[in-house]
Amino acid sequence: MRRGSLLQLLLLTLAAFAIGAVIALVVPWLPHPDSKEAGRIWFVYWFATWICLAIFAVVAGVSVYAFLKFRVKEGDLSDGPPVHGHATLEIVWTAVPFVLVTAIAIVSAIVLAKNSNAGRNPLRITVTTMQFAYQFTYPNGKTFNELRLPVHRSAELTLNSNDVIHSFWVPAFGQKSDAVPGLHNRIVITPTKTGTYPIICTQLCGLGHALMRNKAIILPAPAYESWYKRAAAAPAPAPAPSGGGSAAAAQLFKTTGTCGACHTFTPAGTTGKIGPSLDKLKEAASKAGQPLEAYVKESIEDPDAYVTPGFAKGVMSGSCCKQVSSDQVDQLVQYLVQNTK
Ligand code: CUA
Repeated sequence: MRRGSLLQLLLLTLAAFAIGAVIALVVPWLPHPDSKEAGRIWFVYWFATWICLAIFAVVAGVSVYAFLKFRVKEGDLSDGPPVHGHATLEIVWTAVPFVLVTAIAIVSAIVLAKNSNAGRNPLRITVTTMQFAYQFTYPNGKTFNELRLPVHRSAELTLNSNDVIHSFWVPAFGQKSDAVPGLHNRIVITPTKTGTYPIICTQLCGLGHALMRNKAIILPAPAYESWYKRAAAAPAPAPAPSGGGSAAAAQLFKTTGTCGACHTFTPAGTTGKIGPSLDKLKEAASKAGQPLEAYVKESIEDPDAYVTPGFAKGVMSGSCCKQVSSDQVDQLVQYLVQNTK
């Protein structure tokens, strides 16, 4: 091969590599990694990407060179010269991919093992999924609608589901797993930055799937500790006599029944958009042609009896509403009737 030809081949290869590298670097293919686990996944991603780019550059360079140099001459209909195997070439193009693929496999295996190791003292949280909400139960037995984690400490989340298959995914944390009824899938997250991140359900789980979102709030360790202490001291959410304890009823609305995950209700500070807003129940009751209290009660116990125009049937039949006892239903009715406009 002449020197000039080699130089042309090299330039074509470099050009192909540069084009590939620009596409890889300029487009934000992955969210910024804000957990240790996501950082490791980034490493694997770039490790594999640079290898792919190098192979792409060689293949594209040789192809383009061949197209330009060895074009058929006009009027030449003869076959090309017969070519027999080239042992060295074949050994090289078998050995090089073998080494590269093995390297990717080893790096991936190490990262997978590290990413599922929670270390000695993780924060253990149970994540319960249901149509269409998440609940997070902490080591002190308290349950919340939002996930709060301290930064720089590993959290081990055990996922389960009350009804159908859901999933748990925070893009910036890299980790993702399905929540399957009867299974207890485990993921580890070690946040490296404070802030608020979306939690997204990525399994089609029913009418509210697209809106099955939640928040993960990452706090500095002292702020997390003081929140955790305050939360532990707060009154138990469930039992309270009917009509009494608006705070307990609000807690019931937000946590046990997860009503707030789907419904906007300003007095409780919830902003769900899956179901109709509960801020103007009097108006809604008169549209449905029922007295307020009876309307609210029926809407909880038999949600499909009257469906607010613009909303679909069958959405509220999920298990979130079934975990509320009849005493608690009365409590919720009183709470809504007393606080709505
Ligand atoms: Cu839960 Cu999609």
